[in-house]
Amino acid sequence: MCDGGEMSLHDKVIFVTGGASGIGRATVNRLAADGAHVVVADMQVELAAEAVAQVTSAGGTAQVCELDVADHGAVAAAVAAIANEHGRLDGAFNNAGIGGPTAKILDIDPAEWARVTAVNLTGVFNCVQAEIAQMITQESGGSIVNTASIGGVVALPRAAAYTAAKHGVVGLTRTAAVEYGSRNIRVNAVCPGFIDTPMFASNAGASDEMRDRVAGVVPMRRIAGPEEIADAVAWMLSDQSSYLTGVAMPVDGGFTAR
Ligand code: NAI
Repeated sequence: MCDGGEMSLHDKVIFVTGGASGIGRATVNRLAADGAHVVVADMQVELAAEAVAQVTSAGGTAQVCELDVADHGAVAAAVAAIANEHGRLDGAFNNAGIGGPTAKILDIDPAEWARVTAVNLTGVFNCVQAEIAQMITQESGGSIVNTASIGGVVALPRAAAYTAAKHGVVGLTRTAAVEYGSRNIRVNAVCPGFIDTPMFASNAGASDEMRDRVAGVVPMRRIAGPEEIADAVAWMLSDQSSYLTGVAMPVDGGFTAR
């Protein structure tokens, strides 16, 4: 239960994949500001080091972990090394992901399908499996948050690979929650809507006109900042959400409510 810390994240050891950029980066900053020790795992190791430096200069603690989440053995080794170094793993934000091909199903290259599912779905499986293997050894259990998307709960036309992978993340999340709830391991998904990050800027938000069009289909009529996802994730990782598990929570300005 709540131990009196502001968000009850104080001294928790939390693993964040895709922590170098966008939503992951904002969450790294938020968790560190709340007193967690954050492991910034990313393929972009220089950017991850920059994220760690930012945390450190703000008075927090963090470390870099160079990692490709699609590599099962590397993920298992990374999580084991963190547990070995710190004695436990309290939380994880499995957030690394890539955009998929923008094409209808008939035009999707099978190699692109394979890459998107390898990172966005199998990558999350690799992390969840390694994290649960550690958390199951701890009486304190743990809290896992996976990044799905609005594409994890509704169709996003011309993005079938991405949408299928994100629906898969929701199914994996619910199954993990049911299988390991009795071990005090909570597993939830966050389903961001349109968020202003480098990924968004490189596709749906590539021009002002496109951004206006996207904002226009959101009930709140705007694109969100990555900090608005970080706030939700920090709560889901904290003891303040102690009875929340198996949930796929949209943070989308009302997009999936229509
Ligand atoms: P981003 O591109 O700014 O950040 C993604 C990070 O993941 C990058 O630092 C990248 O290096 C890392 N990454 C990619 N593949 C990796 C791999 N195989 N192993 C390790 N690290 C890897 O993107 P953004 O927008 O912050 O996305 C984060 C997550 O949020 C993704 O899962 C994305 O699908 C999801 N999302 C984003 C939305 C948006 O509008 N920006 C909306 C809904 C979901």
